[in-house]
Parts: sequence; structure tokens; C-alpha cells
Amino acid sequence: MFSKEFDEIVNFRRSNRKFDPNIEVPNEVIQKSIERAALSPNSSNMQLWEFYWIHSKEELEKFIPLCLDQLAAKTAKEMVVFVTRKDKWRSRAEWNYKRIEQTIEGEPNKLQKGGINYYKKVMPLLYMNDGFGVMSSIRRLISFTMGLRKPFFRTGGTANQRIMVHKSCALAAQTFMLSIAAEGFHSCPMEGFDEKRVKKALNLPRGAEINMIISVGLGTEEGIWGPRFRLENEEIVFKR
Ligand SMILES: Cc1cc2nc3c(=O)[nH]c(=O)nc-3n(C[C@H](O)[C@H](O)[C@H](O)COP(=O)(O)O)c2cc1C
Repeated sequence: MFSKEFDEIVNFRRSNRKFDPNIEVPNEVIQKSIERAALSPNSSNMQLWEFYWIHSKEELEKFIPLCLDQLAAKTAKEMVVFVTRKDKWRSRAEWNYKRIEQTIEGEPNKLQKGGINYYKKVMPLLYMNDGFGVMSSIRRLISFTMGLRKPFFRTGGTANQRIMVHKSCALAAQTFMLSIAAEGFHSCPMEGFDEKRVKKALNLPRGAEINMIISVGLGTEEGIWGPRFRLENEEIVFKR
């Protein structure tokens, strides 16, 4: 249905490292793209992400050294910092089951009961932590014993939780970049930054992590560092 348009957007999106200094990005482009990003698929709809829009000249200047003086940061007209918030699991789980509760009229049906149970019981099991690693050991034990008999969702320590939230956040980042492309502008995702200092600049707590920073502007030809190389399908696609 949208195949041709999608091809155009995917081919138009390149990582551009040098943005035109004379062209501003309309606020609506960033606003709309963040809103589209928030519609990305995400684990259990927990939405353990936040988007920090770096817009003012002063803030943009501050982020240049934090992004290690990369050209994509130096020339950026706007930036968005994609942040994971696994520490917010309690409030996001509550937000979800309250949403379900609002849909109940009279007796809850099976789906509503299951949904509430999922956010009240399964989410704590997945995300709860203690300072001693007890919850991680319990999760590993459950995964191991349940997994002996049948396929089971394997989880355990904080690394699993971090992977979970970063997966979802990266999908939001990709939606954002495709949206920026659809609006005729360019972007560059960056993982070259000083995470500690970025967190400090954004006043973020320990539980938050920076997924990536995306700079935006109208790209230039010099901002494209070469043709787009990708591996051959035989190397990476396995149809069985
Ligand atoms: C997670 C991630 C981190 C990246 N970090 C940087 C970065 O710090 N600086 C940069 O110039 N490009 C960065 N890139 C861009 C990649 O180099 C680029 O996507 C890749 O070379 C493919 O080129 P294309 O985006 O034009 O298709 C990053 C891309 C991703 C997905």
C-alpha cells in the first residue's frame, strides 16, 4: 500500500554529519516526529523511555563537547536525547493497569482480568530489583526450572532488563529518524557521547540510561561520508 513511499523514506534517510547552518528545522517537524516515535512498539507497552529535545542555542552549545565535538553535533540545529527509564517500571505498570481498569464496565472480562494481573504481578517479577541480587537469582531459577519442560521467557539479572528497555528505545529512535526523513530533513544517530556528563546535564538519576542522541538539520552533500555499503543478503539473511 505504501511500499513506494516507504522505499523513498528508507533510501532518503542517511546519517548526515554536516547540517546546513542557514536552514532551521520547524518545531512541528521535531514535535510530530517525537509523537510518532512514542507510537513505536515497545515491551509490554511499558514505555520506559523519555525524549529530551535540545532546542535552545545555549543547550545545543552545551551538548557539543558532550558529543565529543562530533561534526554532527557541532552543526546540529536540533537534538533529541533518547533515554531509557527502567527505574520507572512501577509507575508505568500502574499507568497500564489503571488504563485497563478504566475500560471495565461491571464485571471485568477475561482479557481485562489477565491484563491487570499482567501489570500487577508479572511486571514486578520482571523489573523488581533489590540490592543483593535476590530477585535476579529468583528470576534465573524460575527461567531455568520452567525452561526444562517447555519454551519459557528467559530472564535474570539487570543486564536483561537493560536490554529490554534499550530495544524499545532504539525502535523509538528509528521511528523518529524515519519521520525526520519523511519531513524532508536529515539526522545522525550518535552513540559517541559522554554518558555520565549527558546524564548530569539532563539531571537524570542513576536508573536512567542514554540510548542514543540524534542530531537533526537539513543535511549537506559533505555531510554524507560516502556511498551506502551493506553486506550481501547471503551473509545475513537465512530463510529456513
Ligand atoms: C546506535 C548507533 C550509533 C551511532 N553512532 C554514531 C556516532 O556517534 N557518530 C556518527 O557519526 N555516526 C554514528 N552512527 C551512524 C552510523 O555510522 C551509520 O548509521 C552507518 O554507518 C550506516 O550509514 P547510514 O545511516 O547512512 O545508512 C550511529 C548509528 C547507530 C545506529
